Amino acid sequence: MQWATLAAVAAFFAQDAAAQQMLRFPCSQLVVERTDPLVNPGMKYTPHLHQIVGGNSFNVTMDPNDDPAKKSTCTSCSYTQDKSNYWTAVMFFKAKNGTYTRVPQVGNGGPQGKLINKGGLDLYYIPSGKTTAFKKGFRMLAGSASNTDPKKVSSGNICHRCWTSPNEGTFVGAQPCSGTDTVDIPSDPKCKMIRQTIIFPACWDGVNLDSPNHQSHVAYGQGAGANGGGACPSTHPVKLPQIMYELMWNVTTFADKNLWPTDGSKPFVYSMNIGGSAAHGDYVFGWEGDSLQKAMDNGCTLNQNCPKAGLTVQSNAQYDACTKKQQAPEEVDGWLKEMPLGEMAIKA
Ligand SMILES: *[C@@H]1O[C@H](CO)[C@@H](O)[C@H](O)[C@H]1NC(C)=O
Ligand SMILES: *[C@@H]1O[C@H](CO)[C@@H](O)[C@H](O)[C@H]1NC(C)=O
Ligand SMILES: *[C@@H]1O[C@H](CO)[C@@H](O)[C@H](O)[C@H]1NC(C)=O
Repeated sequence: MQWATLAAVAAFFAQDAAAQQMLRFPCSQLVVERTDPLVNPGMKYTPHLHQIVGGNSFNVTMDPNDDPAKKSTCTSCSYTQDKSNYWTAVMFFKAKNGTYTRVPQVGNGGPQGKLINKGGLDLYYIPSGKTTAFKKGFRMLAGSASNTDPKKVSSGNICHRCWTSPNEGTFVGAQPCSGTDTVDIPSDPKCKMIRQTIIFPACWDGVNLDSPNHQSHVAYGQGAGANGGGACPSTHPVKLPQIMYELMWNVTTFADKNLWPTDGSKPFVYSMNIGGSAAHGDYVFGWEGDSLQKAMDNGCTLNQNCPKAGLTVQSNAQYDACTKKQQAPEEVDGWLKEMPLGEMAIKA
């Protein structure tokens, strides 16, 4: 069979996503700041702004020999056992007068139930076949923060979808990163929400916990979209849980062309001042002990307690309460005169 045919078959079986067993849970905002322990360890005021969720041992530098599950005293994600960190760029709206403000993030709804987060993202861990959980010290990066060419990105892995309803519970379309989903951020006043999906590689070389570019120790399999990743290449034979970040950017208050720039610049950009081609996600594993392996082996699903794997979910008030003070302090709320890039952010 051709790869395309295999992918189509896999996509067909993945259609009924509600029946598929996978973790799907919300994470609230831990901190919004210019740090990046993976790409720029030790640096404060990194080149662009991130929104970070997960365990509160997140730091400017994170030694892979330290265990986030032991160092963290709380997590902004709903599973108590998950002290991993997850971060992405932040989406900004650029107004006609040239000032910028962050686009609010909300949890998603849809057929698998509503997820509530306070300015964070929703996470998926999708097993397929024999799935090997990440080990302590594992990290990886999906996407490239400097890429300006949408053609260099597979829309089956990193994509955006326009939601014409401001209600996050109105399920739009099919599987993530399929159909008319685009690599670029849509700029259409009909969009009331923009859903961003970042699907990570699910195949591992089985040896390296990280690599110099944080990418070459992992690879995408033959599948496309959120189907578990498909068959792995011989160079990266170990199937990992497929991680997917889902961000709902609520652009409702900006969905009016009269507010948009008239100089030809785009209304929505990520914090590198580049559009969807530069969308990226960072991951630092930090589940307690072998809890993630047990979760994958025991069919733990959605956002529910899973006694077989010892998983417990917190209330949204509990995970919302896990926050961190900015370590690179600057203004990130309200209207900003400049996007926080090289210089400190300046309030408009
Ligand atoms: C973050 O790192 C600094 C040193 O760089 C250290 O003093 C601090 O305790 C660390 N915070 C956490 C939560 O590990
Ligand atoms: C710029 O435009 C935004 C959106 O229309 C508005 O809220 C803000 O007050 C304006 N800022 C300045 C400095 O004019
Ligand atoms: C999105 O923003 C609009 C305008 O502020 C608000 O009415 C709506 O409730 C928000 N949607 C969600 C799901 O929070």
